[in-house]
Amino acid sequence: MQFQLVKGMKDILPEEQPYWELIRHNVDLMGANYGFARLDTPVLEFTNLFKRTVGEATDIVSKEMYSFVTAGGDKLSLRPENTAGVARSYIEHGMVNQPQPVKVYYLAPQFRHDNPQAGRYRQFWQFGFEAIGDKDPVIDAQLIIMSHNFLTDLGLEVEVQINSVGDSNCRPNYLKTLRHYYQDYKKDLCSDCQERLNKNTLRLLDCKNKRCQELAEQSPQFVDHLCEECKNHLMSVLEYLEEVDIKYNLNSRIVRGLDYYTKTAWEIVEAGAEGKASALGGGGRFDDLVELLGGRPTPAVGFAMGIERIVALMQEKQIKIDKEKYCDLYIAQLGVEARKKSLRLFEDLRRDGFSLAENISKKGLKDQLEVASKKHAKYTLILGQKEIADGTVLIRDMENGIQETVDFNKIKAEVRKRLSSQVMRSLKIRTKPPVV
Ligand code: HAM
Repeated sequence: MQFQLVKGMKDILPEEQPYWELIRHNVDLMGANYGFARLDTPVLEFTNLFKRTVGEATDIVSKEMYSFVTAGGDKLSLRPENTAGVARSYIEHGMVNQPQPVKVYYLAPQFRHDNPQAGRYRQFWQFGFEAIGDKDPVIDAQLIIMSHNFLTDLGLEVEVQINSVGDSNCRPNYLKTLRHYYQDYKKDLCSDCQERLNKNTLRLLDCKNKRCQELAEQSPQFVDHLCEECKNHLMSVLEYLEEVDIKYNLNSRIVRGLDYYTKTAWEIVEAGAEGKASALGGGGRFDDLVELLGGRPTPAVGFAMGIERIVALMQEKQIKIDKEKYCDLYIAQLGVEARKKSLRLFEDLRRDGFSLAENISKKGLKDQLEVASKKHAKYTLILGQKEIADGTVLIRDMENGIQETVDFNKIKAEVRKRLSSQVMRSLKIRTKPPVV
C-alpha cells in the first residue's frame, strides 16, 4: 500500500519556506505597525457558529465543512474561516470592555471540502486582520490599504475590487429588485443559480457560468439601490482610497461567499485577472455579526488572504526572495585570551538582543572578516592580544573599513548608539525585483 497526500492537502516543502517565512514576518510587522494584536482561536468550533454567521445557504456551510459528532455528542466543525471564531472570542472574553476598536490578527490553517484545483486546497492558510467595535469608514479604508500594500510590498501587481452589499435597511429591497429581474431569465440560469435564486440571491452575481455572468452584467446594481447611510459610507471609503492613490474598481459582482457582510465588501486580485483568477484576499464589514452571536451591536470590518495563492503568484512572477542572512555585529578574535573573552562578549550581546554572527573556531582575521561580509554584518568587533592587554575592542565599520578603538566596558553603549541611527535591517522587507 502506498501512502500519499490526502486529496486537497499540501506539503509546504523546505524550498518554499523562505516565501512563507517572509509572509509570516511581514504579517507580524503589519500587526505591529497598525496596532493589531495576535489572536489564535482553535481549529475546532461548534458547527452552529458557522451556520449562524457564514450562513446555512452558503456553499461553505452547506457543502464544504468538515463536520462531525464527537463521542460526547457535540457537533463540531474544522473552521472554514476565522472571522466567526474571532467574533466568538471577542464576546466570550468580554473584549467589548476594552478600548474599541479591538484590533486582532491571525495566521492559521482553514478547512474547506471544496473541489481541489489550482490555488484551491482543502487545508489552506489564511492570515487575517479584524477591527471590531468601530463603524468609521476610515477603518474600512485602512484595512483595504493594508491588504493592497501587503501584496505590492511583495512585488505583486494587484487591483482592489470593491462594492457595497448594503445593510438590513436597504438589502431586502435590492434583493427583491434582483429576484424580479431574474424571474424572466430563470430557465437560462445554471442549475446552481436556479437553486440559489430564492435562498442566496446575491451569489447569482458572482457565478462563473458564462450565461449567468452575462445576466449578472445586465442586472440592477446594488450601488444604485443603497440607502443614504450605506451610500455615504461607501463614498467615504472611496475618498480615503483616492487620498492614498489606491486604485480600485467599483465592481457590483463582489458579493462575497459569506452571509455576514454589510456595507463595504472587497477582493484583491492580480492586476488584469479580475474574473479569471481566484482572489488573493477578500474582506468587508460585518456590522451584525457580533450581535448575531449574542453580543451587543458591534460594528466591525476585516479581511483575510490565502497564503498558498500569494506564494504561487510570487513564484509564477519569479519574485526571488533574498535568502541572505543579515546581522548587526560580527565578533572576531585573535589569540587564546581573546577567544575566551569573545565567548563571553557574544553571550552578553546576544542576551541584550543584538543580532550576531561569529566563527569562533577560525584563527585568522582575514577568514573571519570574510564571513562577516558574507553575513552582511554592519560592524565587526575585533578582540586581539593588544585589545585584551588594553581593555579595549576594535570596532570596524564594514561599509567603509574605518576602525576605532573603544573601551571594552563601553562597547554595548557604542554599538547601540551606532545601530539605533539606522533602520533595523532585520525588519526590512526582502524581495528582489522580478526577473524580466
Ligand atoms: P474568503 O474570501 O472566503 O474570506 O477567503 C479569503 C481568502 O482565503 C481568499 O481570497 C483566498 O485567497 C483564500 N482561500 C479561500 N478558500 C481557499 C481555498 N480553498 N484554497 C486556498 N485558498 C483559499 C474569508 O474567509 C473571510 N473570513 C475574510 C474576512 C475576514 N472577512 C472579514 N474578515
